[in-house]
Amino acid sequence: MRPIPIHQYDENTMQLAKPAYDRRGRVLLSASQIVHPKYLEKLKEIGIRTLIVEDAESRGISLEEMIDIPTWLDVVQTVEEAFAAVAGKKPLPLRGLQQGVAKLLKEILSRPLILPIPSSTMAENLAPYAHAVNVAIMALQVGKSLGYHELMLRDLAIGCLLHDIGKAVTSESQEHPVAGFDIIRGVREVNLLSAHIAFQHHERLDGQGYPRAIRGNAFLEYAQICGICSLYDHLADELPPHEAMERVMGTSGTAFSTEIVQAFVRTVPAYPPGTKIRLMSGEDGIVTRITTHMQRPVVRRLATGEEISLAEELTVMITGSI
Ligand SMILES: [Fe+2]
Repeated sequence: MRPIPIHQYDENTMQLAKPAYDRRGRVLLSASQIVHPKYLEKLKEIGIRTLIVEDAESRGISLEEMIDIPTWLDVVQTVEEAFAAVAGKKPLPLRGLQQGVAKLLKEILSRPLILPIPSSTMAENLAPYAHAVNVAIMALQVGKSLGYHELMLRDLAIGCLLHDIGKAVTSESQEHPVAGFDIIRGVREVNLLSAHIAFQHHERLDGQGYPRAIRGNAFLEYAQICGICSLYDHLADELPPHEAMERVMGTSGTAFSTEIVQAFVRTVPAYPPGTKIRLMSGEDGIVTRITTHMQRPVVRRLATGEEISLAEELTVMITGSI
């Protein structure tokens, strides 16, 4: 299976590999169905832009690195509830959020790589909550690679799930970090560091961020991790993952510290499984899985079906996606 932009869907050669969900996160079309043109229009109408499909080229690719959808969707809905509570001037549903963090943490601590699910597979109204969960998933892996212990990872994840919570009370983009900070720091059970994640996630190391244009060490590491993961997830919403990754790599030493950028590159693959790629030899291939090195996946040549592990064949290079 592989993710594709919805406009590339071809009912003659593809079927759904993962369900498609409606605006409320309920199954609209189940897996292994062929999507009828009428339904395809319906999916586009609610703002779904990515489908995960099975086709001849992606056969045998299990996307087992991807977080399982029920777990992911459960946390997405918890974040949605948190936004609704705050918008309704009710207290944050802290217990649910902590349970969501525990679920993500369990996945991240037990597996070498967890891939988020593109938020564009969801209806548009759910995408902001899916974004928050994906930021938390990536941030936990960055934190893990930096040697964070479990309590630190929990504080990091709760801050990431709530980093945009200020948007529940203000439509002014520049104001949401402060609004979010005020909401989270009012909750006694949450570490103040988690509130600072919301406060600082749009700051940049060189003082080009907002709301305070802080610089250097004042930009906390937790907030940098949230900031880089949020930037990547937004870029990957518009660009192929490897282009989003290149943009992120370009922020090293300017927007984010080199240490944080390096940790990000160590933990997030530029060519996730299911990506169709071109090799420097001119041959086309598809990424089948990631083994030991995030940036050196296993690739299947489309012409011959032969698999090569780029972690072992160090002279074979990917030039881009196709
Ligand atoms: Fe934000």
